[in-house]
Amino acid sequence: MNILLLGSGGREHALARALRYSKTCSRLLIAPGNAGTTEYGENVDIQPTDFEAIKTLCITQFIEMIVVGPEEPLVKGIYDFVVNDPELEKITVVGPSAGAAQLEGSKSFSKKFMQRYQVPTAGFAEFNEGNFEHGKNHIHAQKLPIVLKADGLAAGKGVIICDSYEEATKAFEEMVINKQFGEASEKVVVEEFLQGIELSVFVVTNGSQYKIIGHAKDYKRIGEGDTGLNTGGMGCVTPVPFANDEFMQKVEERVIKPTIRGLQEEQLAYNGFIFFGLMNVNGDPYVIEYNCRLGDPETEVILPRLKTDLLEILTAMRLGRLDDVVIEYDERAVATVVAVSEGYPGKYEKGRTINGLPADTNQQQDTIIFHAGTKTEGDTVVTNGGRVLAVTSFGTDISEAVKKSKAVLDTIHFEGMTYRKDIGYEFE
Ligand code: AMP
Ligand code: GLY
Repeated sequence: MNILLLGSGGREHALARALRYSKTCSRLLIAPGNAGTTEYGENVDIQPTDFEAIKTLCITQFIEMIVVGPEEPLVKGIYDFVVNDPELEKITVVGPSAGAAQLEGSKSFSKKFMQRYQVPTAGFAEFNEGNFEHGKNHIHAQKLPIVLKADGLAAGKGVIICDSYEEATKAFEEMVINKQFGEASEKVVVEEFLQGIELSVFVVTNGSQYKIIGHAKDYKRIGEGDTGLNTGGMGCVTPVPFANDEFMQKVEERVIKPTIRGLQEEQLAYNGFIFFGLMNVNGDPYVIEYNCRLGDPETEVILPRLKTDLLEILTAMRLGRLDDVVIEYDERAVATVVAVSEGYPGKYEKGRTINGLPADTNQQQDTIIFHAGTKTEGDTVVTNGGRVLAVTSFGTDISEAVKKSKAVLDTIHFEGMTYRKDIGYEFE
């Protein structure tokens, strides 16, 4: 099968590796990819939201499947673009329709969807400029801390957790009146704070059948001990001890099945990954958010752990045969540690030379170096983003896996490189 993979991060490097290793992958193109993805396929200089350029590429290169990494092309309707075009309609798009991608694209949509299908989630109310004063009164009537969420996509920055009413009111005004995130914050969801441990659970679905393909714990804060600003993710571990059979059973019954039922009842076309961002509150799962794609850096641990051929799963998804697929996992623990540019998640420099990278990122004993924000300049690999590398290792347990990744990271260098040394700290 000829496959086009969209995206350029560590998630896409991990997807490229899994697809390349699939028995039925004959050709893999990555648009635009990064310095690491060329190891598994051909990079093409096209942006994931340039649908017309993607169309031409698909026709000239006989593409049969498009695997979409990031959310933006999904929310902008790449699925609908392909299925509604007679020249493209035979291509399988791995991702939801724009309607279903609202589960990620609009917090208001996803909260109401969860309410309709009784998926456990934090209590909420939504406000805009029209009922701004009412919103302020509502905030003052809530318990602290209070969670404010911009309705639309805000590059991971649209969630603010406030410890005081002053902070909450100010943030609320910034979003709704001063349009801090533009259109995305015209509407704001005010949400109850959930105390617990987060877990990301991943499913492949065709809208009626589903298979869980893994789970992971992500470390979102920039600083050790879970301090400082939120990032896209600084590291991940899997499997997570509390995600045992009992907990995962609750996740399936209370979260996954009602969500799939909702997709069916509302006729939301979905052929792809669902990322359930959960909070474990005293042993019970609550949905913090849905994402309509795989996570980054979660993908860098769940795909290496997944022993079942990824393309076999995606083909079964398309053919309505997901129920026949047996999902198998590597028995070892897997961890990834992300090396970031100084300044991230704020401003940072790009273009710094990365030294110490092995030519073949996959030949290290038990370790895979995934590129996240990198590009090639002549013969050198340079930084090209805030998150630069995600170093994944296998171990007999989480702490051994983390230790191996850190040992490899200590042999790699770029100016301003930092990484969290405490990934997996709860599981030592
Ligand atoms: P999101 O963009 O929805 O993933 O939110 C970003 C982060 O904010 C989540 O990963 C959580 O750490 C935190 N968060 C979001 N909603 C809540 C909530 N209701 N209670 C506690 N933490 C939350
Ligand atoms: N690591 C969280 C995300 O991909 O949204």
